[in-house]
Amino acid sequence: MNEALLARYDASLRGLARKDRLRTLSPRAGLDFSSNDYLGLAASKRLGDAVAAAIARGTPVGATGSRLLRGNSPEHEALEADAAAFFGAERALFFGSGYIANFALLTTLPQKGDLLILDELAHASMHEGARAGRAEFKLAAHNDIDAVEDAITRWRAEGGMARIWIAVESLYSMDGDRAPMARLIALADRHEAFLVVDEAHATGIWGPDGRGLAAAFEGRDNIVALHTCGKALGASGALVTGPGTLCDYLVNRCRPFIYATAPSPLMAVAVREALAMLSDEPQRRVQLQERVAFAGRQLAERCGVKPSGSQIQPFVIGDNRRTMAVAAALQTRGFDIRGIRPPTVPEGTSRLRISLTLNVDEADISAMVEALVEVLAST
Ligand SMILES: Cc1ncc(COP(=O)(O)O)c(C=O)c1O
Repeated sequence: MNEALLARYDASLRGLARKDRLRTLSPRAGLDFSSNDYLGLAASKRLGDAVAAAIARGTPVGATGSRLLRGNSPEHEALEADAAAFFGAERALFFGSGYIANFALLTTLPQKGDLLILDELAHASMHEGARAGRAEFKLAAHNDIDAVEDAITRWRAEGGMARIWIAVESLYSMDGDRAPMARLIALADRHEAFLVVDEAHATGIWGPDGRGLAAAFEGRDNIVALHTCGKALGASGALVTGPGTLCDYLVNRCRPFIYATAPSPLMAVAVREALAMLSDEPQRRVQLQERVAFAGRQLAERCGVKPSGSQIQPFVIGDNRRTMAVAAALQTRGFDIRGIRPPTVPEGTSRLRISLTLNVDEADISAMVEALVEVLAST
C-alpha cells in the first residue's frame, strides 16, 4: 500500500474526527424518527403492487440510455403528463435525483450576466449549482425578503441588466420552517425575476392534495418547482415542473439530463402511483398532521422545544459531541434519531433532526419524548 498517496485524505479524516465531525455509515435500526418517508409510502403495498404489476407486463428495469436516445420510455412520459396536471404546471421533467435536478436547474437556466440570489439555508445541491453556474451569485439571509430585494436593487444600481433568479426551499429541511411564499412571488413579479422553489419537504404533505406550498403559483411563466420523489412520495428521483419553454430548454441544454441514463421506468411507475395515492388517500396527510401536532405538544411540554409546526422538528443542542452522544443514546434505546452537524447546519447549531412520519404512532412518539427527557438529563 502506498501510504503517501492516501496521506492527505487520512489527515483530513483525522481532522474531522478531532472536531467531532467524522461521518460513518450505520445500518438502519430502531423506530423511524429520521427518514423522509413522511407518509409511509416507501414500503406501502400499493406502491409495491404497482411496480410488481409493471414488471409482470414487461416493463424493463433499466432505461437503457439517455432520454434523448433510446432511454425515453412510455412510463417516463406518462409520469410527466400526470405530474404536470397534478402540480398545475405546463410541463414536468423527471430527473434521477433531487440533488442532480437542483444542480442541473441552477447550472443551466440562469445565464451569464444574470443574478442568482440563494437563501443561505437552501440545500447543498442548490449551493453547488449556484457555484458551478454562469450567473453572478449572492447569498441572502434566511427568509429575509428585504435582503433579497436589497441585493436586487444594488445589482441594478451597479448596472446589472439581465435576468434575476431567486432560489429557495419552500419548507426548510433542517429547520422545518416555511419560506414566505406569497411575498417571494410578489417580489419576483415586481422585478420580473424567476423563482426556483425546492418543494422537497413540502411535496405530498403541504398545499392542496399535497401539491406543495407554491401550488397556487405553479403554471406561471416565472416559477420553476422541484418536487423530489424520494421523500413523501416514497420512491426516488425528482420532478421539475415549469413553463414548457424552460423544460424544452433543459432537454436541449441541461447536461445532467442529456448525458445520463434515464431513471428506471419502474421508478417512473412507482412515482406515478405515489401521485395517485396523494389524491386517493388524503387521510395520510390528516394522520401526519395529527402526529405533528401531538409531537409538538409533547416536545414543548416536556423539553421546552418550540414546535416547528411541520413534520421536521429540530432540537438544537449546539455542541457537536453532545449532539452525537444524545443521538447515540436514543438509538441505543431503539429510537432512530440522527444528529446533524456542520457543515450541514451552521456552526454552533448542531441538532437532533426529529422527523415525523406515519411509520410511528402516538405511543411511539410519547416513548421517544420520555427517552429524550431522560437522555438529556444524563448526557
Ligand atoms: C431540500 C432538499 N432538496 C433536494 C434534496 C435532494 O433530493 P434527493 O434526495 O432526491 O437527491 C434534498 C435531500 O436531502 C433536500 O432535503
